[in-house]
Amino acid sequence: MTTTPQTMGQQFGRRSWAEPWKIKMVEPLTMTDRAGRERAAQEAGYNTFLLKSDDVYIDLLTDSGTNAMSDRQWAGMMLGDEAYAGSRNFYHLEEAIQTVYGYKHIVPTHQGRGAEHLISQAAIKKGQYVPGNMYFTTTRLHQEMAGGIFVDVIIDEAHDAQNLHPFKGNVDLDKVAALIEREGAANIAYISLAGTVNMAGGQPMSMANVKALRALCDQHGIKIYLDATRMMENAFFIQEREAGYADKTIAQILKEFCSYTDGAWMSAKKDNLVNIGGWLAVNDQDLFEELRNMVVIFEGLHTYGGLAGRDMEAIAIGIFEGVQDAHIRSRIGQVRYLGELLTDWGIPIVQPVGGHAIFLDARRFYPHLPQSVFPAQTLAAELYLDSGIRSMERGVVSAGRDPHTGEHYYPKLELTRLTIPRRVYTQAHMDVVAEAVKTVFDQRDATRGLKMVYEPKYLRFFQARFERL
Ligand code: F0G
Repeated sequence: MTTTPQTMGQQFGRRSWAEPWKIKMVEPLTMTDRAGRERAAQEAGYNTFLLKSDDVYIDLLTDSGTNAMSDRQWAGMMLGDEAYAGSRNFYHLEEAIQTVYGYKHIVPTHQGRGAEHLISQAAIKKGQYVPGNMYFTTTRLHQEMAGGIFVDVIIDEAHDAQNLHPFKGNVDLDKVAALIEREGAANIAYISLAGTVNMAGGQPMSMANVKALRALCDQHGIKIYLDATRMMENAFFIQEREAGYADKTIAQILKEFCSYTDGAWMSAKKDNLVNIGGWLAVNDQDLFEELRNMVVIFEGLHTYGGLAGRDMEAIAIGIFEGVQDAHIRSRIGQVRYLGELLTDWGIPIVQPVGGHAIFLDARRFYPHLPQSVFPAQTLAAELYLDSGIRSMERGVVSAGRDPHTGEHYYPKLELTRLTIPRRVYTQAHMDVVAEAVKTVFDQRDATRGLKMVYEPKYLRFFQARFERL
Protein backbone atom coordinates (compact mmCIF):
# COMPACT_ATOMS: atom_id res chain seq x y z
CA MET A 1 0.00 0.00 0.00
CA THR A 2 2.79 2.46 0.77
CA THR A 3 4.62 4.04 -2.11
CA THR A 4 8.40 3.91 -1.89
CA PRO A 5 10.55 6.56 -3.54
CA GLN A 6 11.10 3.98 -6.28
CA THR A 7 7.43 3.43 -7.03
CA MET A 8 6.88 7.17 -6.85
CA GLY A 9 9.34 7.44 -9.72
CA GLN A 10 7.55 4.69 -11.60
CA GLN A 11 4.59 7.02 -11.98
CA PHE A 12 6.82 8.72 -14.53
CA GLY A 13 7.97 5.41 -16.01
CA ARG A 14 11.38 5.68 -14.34
CA ARG A 15 13.08 3.94 -11.43
CA SER A 16 13.95 7.00 -9.33
CA TRP A 17 12.31 10.24 -8.38
CA ALA A 18 14.12 13.56 -8.43
CA GLU A 19 13.56 17.11 -7.29
CA PRO A 20 11.46 19.23 -9.68
CA TRP A 21 14.02 22.05 -9.50
CA LYS A 22 17.71 22.72 -9.96
CA ILE A 23 20.06 24.78 -7.81
CA LYS A 24 20.86 28.37 -8.84
CA MET A 25 22.63 29.69 -5.73
CA VAL A 26 24.58 27.87 -3.04
CA GLU A 27 25.38 28.63 0.59
CA PRO A 28 28.62 27.15 1.95
CA LEU A 29 28.28 24.93 5.02
CA THR A 30 30.41 25.16 8.15
CA MET A 31 32.69 22.17 8.55
CA THR A 32 33.09 21.42 12.27
CA ASP A 33 35.63 19.41 14.30
CA ARG A 34 35.22 17.38 17.50
CA ALA A 35 37.00 19.85 19.81
CA GLY A 36 34.91 22.75 18.52
CA ARG A 37 31.70 20.74 18.90
CA GLU A 38 32.54 19.76 22.49
CA ARG A 39 33.04 23.41 23.37
CA ALA A 40 29.92 24.56 21.54
CA ALA A 41 27.73 21.83 23.08
CA GLN A 42 28.90 22.67 26.58
CA GLU A 43 28.34 26.40 26.05
CA ALA A 44 24.84 25.57 24.79
CA GLY A 45 23.97 23.52 27.88
CA TYR A 46 23.54 20.45 25.61
CA ASN A 47 20.41 22.07 24.19
CA THR A 48 20.48 22.21 20.39
CA PHE A 49 18.26 25.33 20.48
CA LEU A 50 21.09 27.20 22.19
CA LEU A 51 23.77 26.32 19.63
CA LYS A 52 25.00 29.01 17.28
CA SER A 53 24.11 28.12 13.74
CA ASP A 54 27.74 28.84 12.78
CA ASP A 55 28.69 25.81 14.89
CA VAL A 56 26.31 23.52 12.98
CA TYR A 57 27.15 21.45 9.89
CA ILE A 58 23.80 20.02 8.70
CA ASP A 59 20.88 21.76 10.37
CA LEU A 60 17.88 19.49 10.94
CA LEU A 61 16.58 21.40 13.96
CA THR A 62 13.38 22.28 12.19
CA ASP A 63 11.62 22.63 8.86
CA SER A 64 10.24 25.94 10.11
CA GLY A 65 11.42 29.02 8.24
CA THR A 66 14.38 27.05 6.92
CA ASN A 67 13.00 26.50 3.41
CA ALA A 68 14.79 27.58 0.24
CA MET A 69 12.66 30.03 -1.70
CA SER A 70 12.38 29.82 -5.48
CA ASP A 71 13.58 32.38 -8.02
CA ARG A 72 9.91 33.37 -8.44
CA GLN A 73 9.55 34.03 -4.74
CA TRP A 74 12.75 36.10 -4.67
CA ALA A 75 11.47 38.05 -7.65
CA GLY A 76 8.23 38.58 -5.73
CA MET A 77 10.25 40.02 -2.82
CA MET A 78 11.26 42.86 -5.14
CA LEU A 79 7.60 43.66 -5.71
CA GLY A 80 6.94 44.37 -2.04
CA ASP A 81 4.45 47.19 -1.54
CA GLU A 82 5.57 48.46 1.85
CA ALA A 83 2.52 50.61 2.48
CA TYR A 84 1.31 50.60 6.07
CA ALA A 85 -2.28 50.08 4.94
CA GLY A 86 -3.77 48.18 2.04
CA SER A 87 -0.53 46.73 0.59
CA ARG A 88 -1.17 45.05 -2.74
CA ASN A 89 0.75 42.02 -1.49
CA PHE A 90 -1.89 41.50 1.19
CA TYR A 91 -4.54 41.16 -1.52
CA HIS A 92 -2.35 38.64 -3.36
CA LEU A 93 -2.00 36.66 -0.16
CA GLU A 94 -5.71 36.84 0.56
CA GLU A 95 -6.52 35.61 -2.94
CA ALA A 96 -3.98 32.78 -2.74
CA ILE A 97 -5.44 31.49 0.54
CA GLN A 98 -9.01 31.81 -0.72
CA THR A 99 -8.11 30.00 -3.94
CA VAL A 100 -5.99 27.18 -2.52
CA TYR A 101 -7.45 26.62 0.97
CA GLY A 102 -10.97 27.89 0.27
CA TYR A 103 -11.57 29.97 3.41
CA LYS A 104 -13.40 33.31 3.20
CA HIS A 105 -11.69 35.80 5.53
CA ILE A 106 -7.95 36.21 6.10
CA VAL A 107 -5.87 37.81 8.86
CA PRO A 108 -2.07 37.83 8.39
CA THR A 109 0.22 37.25 11.39
CA HIS A 110 3.97 37.34 11.92
CA GLN A 111 4.09 33.53 12.28
CA GLY A 112 1.98 30.59 13.40
CA ARG A 113 1.92 31.30 17.11
CA GLY A 114 0.68 34.84 16.44
CA ALA A 115 -2.34 33.26 14.78
CA GLU A 116 -2.67 30.70 17.62
CA HIS A 117 -2.73 33.53 20.12
CA LEU A 118 -5.55 35.35 18.32
CA ILE A 119 -7.79 32.34 17.70
CA SER A 120 -7.29 31.06 21.26
CA GLN A 121 -8.19 34.42 22.80
CA ALA A 122 -11.18 34.91 20.50
CA ALA A 123 -12.69 31.42 20.59
CA ILE A 124 -11.95 29.99 24.06
CA LYS A 125 -13.83 30.96 27.23
CA LYS A 126 -12.12 30.30 30.55
CA GLY A 127 -12.67 26.71 31.68
CA GLN A 128 -13.71 25.40 28.27
CA TYR A 129 -12.22 22.19 26.89
CA VAL A 130 -10.19 22.15 23.68
CA PRO A 131 -9.98 18.60 22.28
CA GLY A 132 -7.19 18.07 19.78
CA ASN A 133 -5.39 15.32 17.86
CA MET A 134 -2.33 15.45 20.12
CA TYR A 135 -0.89 18.63 21.52
CA PHE A 136 1.59 20.95 19.86
CA THR A 137 3.83 23.00 22.16
CA THR A 138 2.90 26.58 21.21
CA THR A 139 -0.69 25.66 20.29
CA ARG A 140 -1.49 24.12 23.67
CA LEU A 141 0.24 26.90 25.58
CA HIS A 142 -1.87 29.56 23.86
CA GLN A 143 -5.00 27.52 24.54
CA GLU A 144 -4.05 27.20 28.20
CA MET A 145 -3.18 30.88 28.46
CA ALA A 146 -6.67 31.67 27.15
CA GLY A 147 -8.12 29.58 30.00
CA GLY A 148 -8.75 26.45 27.93
CA ILE A 149 -8.10 22.86 28.99
CA PHE A 150 -6.49 20.79 26.26
CA VAL A 151 -7.74 17.20 25.91
CA ASP A 152 -5.88 14.73 23.70
CA VAL A 153 -8.41 12.88 21.50
CA ILE A 154 -6.02 11.32 18.99
CA ILE A 155 -6.36 7.56 18.36
CA ASP A 156 -4.29 5.41 20.74
CA GLU A 157 -2.18 4.09 17.86
CA ALA A 158 -0.55 7.54 17.58
CA HIS A 159 1.17 7.08 20.92
CA ASP A 160 2.84 3.87 19.75
CA ALA A 161 5.97 4.56 17.70
CA GLN A 162 5.82 1.13 16.02
CA ASN A 163 2.13 0.95 15.13
CA LEU A 164 1.72 0.98 11.33
CA HIS A 165 -1.74 2.58 11.17
CA PRO A 166 -1.82 4.57 7.88
CA PHE A 167 -3.59 7.55 9.51
CA LYS A 168 -2.08 7.83 12.96
CA GLY A 169 -3.19 11.46 13.12
CA ASN A 170 -6.88 10.49 13.21
CA VAL A 171 -9.21 11.71 15.91
CA ASP A 172 -10.83 9.03 18.05
CA LEU A 173 -14.48 9.98 17.62
CA ASP A 174 -15.48 7.96 20.69
CA LYS A 175 -13.18 10.10 22.83
CA VAL A 176 -14.80 13.26 21.44
CA ALA A 177 -18.32 11.88 21.92
CA ALA A 178 -17.48 10.87 25.50
CA LEU A 179 -16.15 14.36 26.24
CA ILE A 180 -19.30 15.97 24.82
CA GLU A 181 -21.41 13.57 26.88
CA ARG A 182 -19.45 14.25 30.05
CA GLU A 183 -18.90 18.01 29.83
CA GLY A 184 -21.63 19.20 27.45
CA ALA A 185 -21.13 20.74 24.02
CA ALA A 186 -21.31 24.29 25.43
CA ASN A 187 -18.16 23.59 27.44
CA ILE A 188 -16.15 22.72 24.35
CA ALA A 189 -14.52 25.74 22.73
CA TYR A 190 -13.77 24.05 19.40
CA ILE A 191 -11.93 21.03 18.05
CA SER A 192 -8.24 21.81 17.48
CA LEU A 193 -7.22 19.68 14.52
CA ALA A 194 -3.76 19.34 13.00
CA GLY A 195 -2.78 17.80 9.70
CA THR A 196 -0.15 16.35 9.82
CA VAL A 197 0.43 15.77 13.54
CA ASN A 198 3.89 17.05 14.35
CA MET A 199 4.38 15.47 17.79
CA ALA A 200 3.14 12.07 16.60
CA GLY A 201 5.85 11.97 13.93
CA GLY A 202 4.28 13.97 11.12
CA GLN A 203 1.36 11.54 10.89
CA PRO A 204 -1.68 12.29 8.70
CA MET A 205 -5.44 12.36 9.24
CA SER A 206 -7.74 10.73 6.72
CA MET A 207 -10.52 12.45 4.80
CA ALA A 208 -13.02 9.93 6.16
CA ASN A 209 -12.03 10.89 9.69
CA VAL A 210 -12.47 14.64 9.24
CA LYS A 211 -15.80 14.05 7.45
CA ALA A 212 -17.08 11.91 10.32
CA LEU A 213 -15.83 14.45 12.84
CA ARG A 214 -17.68 17.19 10.96
CA ALA A 215 -20.89 15.19 11.14
CA LEU A 216 -20.46 14.63 14.89
CA CYS A 217 -19.68 18.31 15.52
CA ASP A 218 -22.67 19.43 13.44
CA GLN A 219 -24.97 17.44 15.72
CA HIS A 220 -23.69 19.48 18.66
CA GLY A 221 -22.94 22.85 17.06
CA ILE A 222 -19.18 22.57 17.70
CA LYS A 223 -16.68 24.37 15.46
CA ILE A 224 -13.55 22.77 14.00
CA TYR A 225 -10.38 24.83 13.50
CA LEU A 226 -7.45 23.36 11.65
CA ASP A 227 -3.74 23.83 12.20
CA ALA A 228 -2.96 23.85 8.47
CA THR A 229 0.80 24.19 8.95
CA ARG A 230 1.61 20.93 7.10
CA MET A 231 -1.79 20.20 5.61
CA MET A 232 -0.40 19.99 2.06
CA GLU A 233 1.81 17.13 3.23
CA ASN A 234 -1.23 15.53 4.84
CA ALA A 235 -3.01 15.73 1.48
CA PHE A 236 -0.19 13.67 -0.07
CA PHE A 237 -0.85 10.80 2.35
CA ILE A 238 -4.56 10.89 1.56
CA GLN A 239 -3.75 10.72 -2.15
CA GLU A 240 -1.44 7.79 -1.54
CA ARG A 241 -3.40 5.78 1.03
CA GLU A 242 -7.11 6.58 0.99
CA ALA A 243 -9.54 4.91 -1.43
CA GLY A 244 -10.96 7.32 -3.97
CA TYR A 245 -8.17 9.91 -3.84
CA ALA A 246 -5.40 8.43 -6.01
CA ASP A 247 -6.60 10.38 -9.05
CA LYS A 248 -7.20 13.67 -7.25
CA THR A 249 -4.53 16.36 -7.09
CA ILE A 250 -2.99 17.59 -3.83
CA ALA A 251 -4.79 20.88 -4.48
CA GLN A 252 -8.19 19.18 -4.77
CA ILE A 253 -7.62 17.08 -1.66
CA LEU A 254 -6.43 20.05 0.38
CA LYS A 255 -9.46 22.11 -0.52
CA GLU A 256 -11.89 19.31 0.22
CA PHE A 257 -10.31 18.70 3.63
CA CYS A 258 -10.43 22.38 4.56
CA SER A 259 -14.11 22.49 3.52
CA TYR A 260 -14.96 20.29 6.53
CA THR A 261 -13.45 22.85 8.91
CA ASP A 262 -14.55 26.34 9.98
CA GLY A 263 -11.18 27.98 9.71
CA ALA A 264 -7.45 27.47 10.04
CA TRP A 265 -4.30 28.91 11.48
CA MET A 266 -1.03 28.59 9.70
CA SER A 267 2.69 28.74 10.19
CA ALA A 268 3.59 29.73 6.63
CA LYS A 269 7.20 28.89 7.52
CA LYS A 270 6.47 25.25 6.65
CA ASP A 271 4.19 24.25 3.75
CA ASN A 272 4.09 27.78 2.30
CA LEU A 273 7.84 27.69 1.54
CA VAL A 274 8.95 30.93 3.16
CA ASN A 275 11.26 32.00 5.98
CA ILE A 276 8.73 33.96 8.04
CA GLY A 277 4.98 34.49 8.18
CA GLY A 278 1.65 33.11 9.23
CA TRP A 279 -2.05 33.62 8.80
CA LEU A 280 -5.46 32.93 10.18
CA ALA A 281 -8.48 32.21 8.01
CA VAL A 282 -12.11 31.80 9.07
CA ASN A 283 -15.48 31.60 7.39
CA ASP A 284 -17.55 33.21 10.15
CA GLN A 285 -18.03 36.95 9.60
CA ASP A 286 -18.41 37.90 13.29
CA LEU A 287 -15.37 35.95 14.41
CA PHE A 288 -13.42 37.53 11.57
CA GLU A 289 -14.42 41.03 12.70
CA GLU A 290 -13.12 40.25 16.17
CA LEU A 291 -9.85 38.74 14.94
CA ARG A 292 -9.29 41.63 12.57
CA ASN A 293 -9.72 43.98 15.49
CA MET A 294 -7.42 42.00 17.81
CA VAL A 295 -4.61 41.70 15.28
CA VAL A 296 -3.98 45.45 15.45
CA ILE A 297 -3.12 45.13 19.15
CA PHE A 298 -0.67 42.25 18.90
CA GLU A 299 0.69 41.97 15.36
CA GLY A 300 0.01 45.05 13.24
CA LEU A 301 -2.65 46.44 10.96
CA HIS A 302 -4.99 43.81 9.47
CA THR A 303 -3.40 44.17 6.03
CA TYR A 304 0.11 43.28 7.21
CA GLY A 305 -0.11 41.54 10.63
CA GLY A 306 3.58 41.97 11.44
CA LEU A 307 4.85 41.09 7.97
CA ALA A 308 6.60 43.19 5.35
CA GLY A 309 4.76 43.48 2.05
CA ARG A 310 7.53 41.47 0.39
CA ASP A 311 7.04 38.64 2.87
CA MET A 312 3.34 38.44 2.06
CA GLU A 313 4.19 38.29 -1.64
CA ALA A 314 6.62 35.42 -1.04
CA ILE A 315 3.94 33.52 0.91
CA ALA A 316 1.36 34.09 -1.84
CA ILE A 317 3.72 32.61 -4.43
CA GLY A 318 4.84 29.86 -2.04
CA ILE A 319 1.23 28.74 -1.54
CA PHE A 320 0.89 27.97 -5.24
CA GLU A 321 4.32 26.27 -5.43
CA GLY A 322 3.79 24.25 -2.27
CA VAL A 323 0.58 22.63 -3.47
CA GLN A 324 2.13 21.20 -6.67
CA ASP A 325 2.09 17.38 -6.70
CA ALA A 326 5.67 17.11 -7.99
CA HIS A 327 6.93 19.30 -5.16
CA ILE A 328 5.27 17.32 -2.36
CA ARG A 329 6.23 13.99 -3.91
CA SER A 330 9.93 14.88 -3.90
CA ARG A 331 9.71 16.56 -0.49
CA ILE A 332 8.28 13.48 1.18
CA GLY A 333 10.42 11.23 -1.03
CA GLN A 334 13.54 12.75 0.51
CA VAL A 335 12.28 12.23 4.06
CA ARG A 336 11.50 8.59 3.20
CA TYR A 337 14.90 8.07 1.63
CA LEU A 338 16.53 8.89 4.98
CA GLY A 339 13.97 6.77 6.82
CA GLU A 340 14.70 3.74 4.65
CA LEU A 341 18.46 3.99 5.19
CA LEU A 342 17.99 4.07 8.96
CA THR A 343 15.42 1.27 8.92
CA ASP A 344 17.74 -0.91 6.85
CA TRP A 345 20.39 -0.49 9.57
CA GLY A 346 17.99 -1.50 12.34
CA ILE A 347 17.79 1.97 13.88
CA PRO A 348 14.47 2.50 15.70
CA ILE A 349 12.36 5.28 14.18
CA VAL A 350 8.67 6.17 14.24
CA GLN A 351 6.82 4.18 11.61
CA PRO A 352 5.30 4.83 9.16
CA VAL A 353 7.63 7.68 8.17
CA GLY A 354 5.67 10.94 8.29
CA GLY A 355 5.78 14.11 6.25
CA HIS A 356 8.44 16.46 7.52
CA ALA A 357 10.93 14.53 9.58
CA ILE A 358 12.41 11.29 10.77
CA PHE A 359 11.72 10.77 14.45
CA LEU A 360 14.30 8.58 16.17
CA ASP A 361 12.66 6.50 18.91
CA ALA A 362 14.90 7.34 21.86
CA ARG A 363 13.21 4.79 24.15
CA ARG A 364 14.34 1.94 21.93
CA PHE A 365 17.58 3.67 20.92
CA TYR A 366 18.63 3.92 24.60
CA PRO A 367 16.61 1.19 26.38
CA HIS A 368 18.87 1.53 29.43
CA LEU A 369 18.01 5.24 30.01
CA PRO A 370 14.87 6.16 32.02
CA GLN A 371 12.82 9.16 30.87
CA SER A 372 14.08 11.13 33.89
CA VAL A 373 17.53 11.46 32.28
CA PHE A 374 16.02 12.79 29.03
CA PRO A 375 16.93 10.12 26.44
CA ALA A 376 15.76 12.14 23.42
CA GLN A 377 17.60 15.26 24.56
CA THR A 378 20.67 13.07 25.13
CA LEU A 379 20.43 11.63 21.63
CA ALA A 380 20.22 15.10 20.09
CA ALA A 381 23.33 16.13 22.06
CA GLU A 382 25.26 12.98 21.10
CA LEU A 383 24.42 13.37 17.43
CA TYR A 384 25.68 16.94 17.45
CA LEU A 385 28.88 15.93 19.26
CA ASP A 386 29.53 13.16 16.75
CA SER A 387 28.96 15.04 13.54
CA GLY A 388 27.74 18.62 13.92
CA ILE A 389 24.26 17.58 12.81
CA ARG A 390 21.58 19.47 14.70
CA SER A 391 18.32 17.74 15.65
CA MET A 392 15.66 18.46 18.28
CA GLU A 393 14.15 16.79 21.32
CA ARG A 394 10.44 15.91 21.21
CA GLY A 395 9.90 14.08 24.45
CA VAL A 396 9.64 14.87 28.14
CA VAL A 397 11.45 18.21 27.85
CA SER A 398 9.11 19.45 25.09
CA ALA A 399 6.06 18.15 26.95
CA GLY A 400 6.71 20.50 29.88
CA ARG A 401 4.76 20.43 33.14
CA ASP A 402 1.09 20.09 33.97
CA PRO A 403 0.01 23.65 34.94
CA HIS A 404 -2.22 22.28 37.71
CA THR A 405 0.04 19.71 39.40
CA GLY A 406 3.45 21.11 38.43
CA GLU A 407 4.61 17.58 37.52
CA HIS A 408 6.46 16.72 34.31
CA TYR A 409 4.17 15.52 31.58
CA TYR A 410 5.64 12.09 30.73
CA PRO A 411 4.65 11.55 27.08
CA LYS A 412 4.67 8.00 25.71
CA LEU A 413 6.68 9.22 22.76
CA GLU A 414 10.28 10.09 23.57
CA LEU A 415 11.63 11.19 20.21
CA THR A 416 14.53 12.98 18.57
CA ARG A 417 13.51 14.74 15.39
CA LEU A 418 15.63 14.98 12.26
CA THR A 419 13.60 17.62 10.48
CA ILE A 420 14.14 18.11 6.78
CA PRO A 421 13.96 21.70 5.47
CA ARG A 422 12.23 21.97 2.09
CA ARG A 423 14.42 22.25 -1.04
CA VAL A 424 17.63 22.75 0.99
CA TYR A 425 19.71 19.57 1.33
CA THR A 426 20.65 16.88 -1.18
CA GLN A 427 20.48 13.11 -1.10
CA ALA A 428 24.21 13.06 -0.29
CA HIS A 429 23.50 15.06 2.86
CA MET A 430 20.91 12.45 3.80
CA ASP A 431 23.56 9.73 3.41
CA VAL A 432 25.89 11.58 5.77
CA VAL A 433 23.10 12.07 8.30
CA ALA A 434 22.22 8.37 8.24
CA GLU A 435 25.87 7.41 8.76
CA ALA A 436 26.19 9.79 11.72
CA VAL A 437 23.08 8.37 13.38
CA LYS A 438 24.52 4.87 12.86
CA THR A 439 27.76 5.88 14.62
CA VAL A 440 25.83 7.23 17.62
CA PHE A 441 23.70 4.08 17.63
CA ASP A 442 26.80 1.86 17.67
CA GLN A 443 28.04 3.75 20.77
CA ARG A 444 24.67 3.69 22.55
CA ASP A 445 25.66 1.42 25.44
CA ALA A 446 28.24 3.91 26.69
CA THR A 447 25.77 6.82 26.74
CA ARG A 448 24.57 8.02 30.16
CA GLY A 449 21.97 10.78 29.87
CA LEU A 450 21.56 14.38 31.04
CA LYS A 451 20.53 16.36 34.11
CA MET A 452 18.45 19.54 33.74
CA VAL A 453 20.19 22.42 35.50
CA TYR A 454 18.08 25.36 34.30
CA GLU A 455 14.38 25.29 33.50
CA PRO A 456 12.51 28.31 32.12
CA LYS A 457 8.82 28.69 32.91
CA TYR A 458 7.33 28.62 29.40
CA LEU A 459 8.18 26.27 26.51
CA ARG A 460 11.20 25.07 28.44
CA PHE A 461 12.68 23.02 25.61
CA PHE A 462 13.77 26.20 23.84
CA GLN A 463 16.01 27.49 26.63
CA ALA A 464 16.59 24.74 29.23
CA ARG A 465 20.21 23.84 30.07
CA PHE A 466 21.67 20.44 30.88
CA GLU A 467 24.83 18.75 32.13
CA ARG A 468 26.09 15.34 31.07
CA LEU A 469 25.80 12.60 33.67
N1 F0G B 1 1.66 24.36 14.59
C1 F0G B 1 2.51 23.40 14.26
C2 F0G B 1 1.98 22.06 13.89
C3 F0G B 1 3.89 23.66 14.25
O1 F0G B 1 4.72 22.69 13.91
C4 F0G B 1 4.34 24.96 14.61
C5 F0G B 1 5.75 25.25 14.63
C6 F0G B 1 3.41 25.93 14.96
C7 F0G B 1 2.07 25.60 14.93
C8 F0G B 1 3.82 27.31 15.38
O2 F0G B 1 4.23 28.06 14.30
O3 F0G B 1 6.66 28.48 14.70
O4 F0G B 1 5.37 29.79 13.01
O5 F0G B 1 5.00 30.15 15.42
N2 F0G B 1 6.63 24.35 14.63
C9 F0G B 1 8.05 24.52 14.57
C10 F0G B 1 8.70 23.17 14.60
C11 F0G B 1 8.62 25.49 15.52
O6 F0G B 1 9.95 23.15 14.63
O7 F0G B 1 8.03 22.14 14.57
P1 F0G B 1 5.39 29.18 14.36
